[in-house]
Amino acid sequence: MSEEFFFQLHTNVFYGLGASRRLGGFVRDRGFSRVLMLVDEGCAKHSAYFREIREIIELAAGSLHVEQLRGTEEPDYDYLDQVAGHARSLGDFELVLGIGGGSCMDMAKAVAMLLTNPGRGIDYRGFDKVRLHPVATVCVPTTAGTGSEVTINAVFTDKAERRKLGINGRFMNADWAVLDAEWTMSCPQDAALSSGMDAMTHALESFSCRQHNVLTRAYSKEAFRILYQNLPCLKDDPENRDRRQLLLLGSYLAAAGLFNSGSGVAGAFSYPLGAHFKVPHGIGGAIFLASVVEYNVERGYTDYAELLDLVECRPELDEREKSRRFALLLRELSDGLGVPRTLAKWGLARDKADQVAALMLPLQAAFDQNPVPFSAEEDAPRLLMKHLD
Ligand SMILES: [Fe+2]
Repeated sequence: MSEEFFFQLHTNVFYGLGASRRLGGFVRDRGFSRVLMLVDEGCAKHSAYFREIREIIELAAGSLHVEQLRGTEEPDYDYLDQVAGHARSLGDFELVLGIGGGSCMDMAKAVAMLLTNPGRGIDYRGFDKVRLHPVATVCVPTTAGTGSEVTINAVFTDKAERRKLGINGRFMNADWAVLDAEWTMSCPQDAALSSGMDAMTHALESFSCRQHNVLTRAYSKEAFRILYQNLPCLKDDPENRDRRQLLLLGSYLAAAGLFNSGSGVAGAFSYPLGAHFKVPHGIGGAIFLASVVEYNVERGYTDYAELLDLVECRPELDEREKSRRFALLLRELSDGLGVPRTLAKWGLARDKADQVAALMLPLQAAFDQNPVPFSAEEDAPRLLMKHLD
């Protein structure tokens, strides 16, 4: 654990079922009269709730421009420049509203930034490159998982280099987030599961990473408890709005902990798999998550006992046994939700093992965040093989 740390949160939150209806009053009270709305095209076309909220905001703002974003897991810098260029050509906006999954929210944050900062999106790739304060931004997640509404990251793929490296750090936060499960009710089950397990990966890797601190642990532990208890509803009780609302809370807490601490092996694996083989980010991490926890437990890591205590009362077990039990519960959750154990669905089998292992070599810095040593040369290929048929 870090003895000295810096902890930041920049995002105000509107929380609750139907909270988006408060956006009209918010826009009016703040005097925002020129609003740009970036919305996932599926949501814009099919969601009655979107039509209702759009009307509320249009009425309050006077001028609203709606831009539909194509549904893509992996937005790239070219697409960002295209959307930002169009937004620039429309004149001055006072507020950018992003409604959609992680990609849409990342796009909203980056477009808001490019409305005040010159040049192309890729000029700001990396950390703390943004100089000028972006246009005010509201993010509204329609899936519970990425936590982009609270983080200081916007992830884009560099098509030329085939790698994901986002725009991160200063000014890359939304100013407000709306956590309202009315949006998530129409999310397809596959996408909801992938996002939900993304949040679980954030919670567990933020909890266990070497850079965790007392504040990030408060976030990651509560995130884990909420996610563990409510993720099964995506299978057995998907219409339960209260539980879907809690998933948004768990996702938010997990991401708030994550960007203030660090990540880990499973999250790191998902990036090259997404950039090269189009494995969805959430599932890409989730496939490996239980195996990473088992790996850590086998090597004597026992902090997971604290997490077991949050969901099961087992006073007869010592810390080692509790950690083993935790790994088992996580495996059961993952299997119960239908997270695949292999990458076969994305055309990845043992014949591609060397190719995929090579993509993991540059990830040693991320692997170093794991609480027990994990090497890109030996441990990564070994873990990978477990998930290739
Ligand atoms: Fe993630």
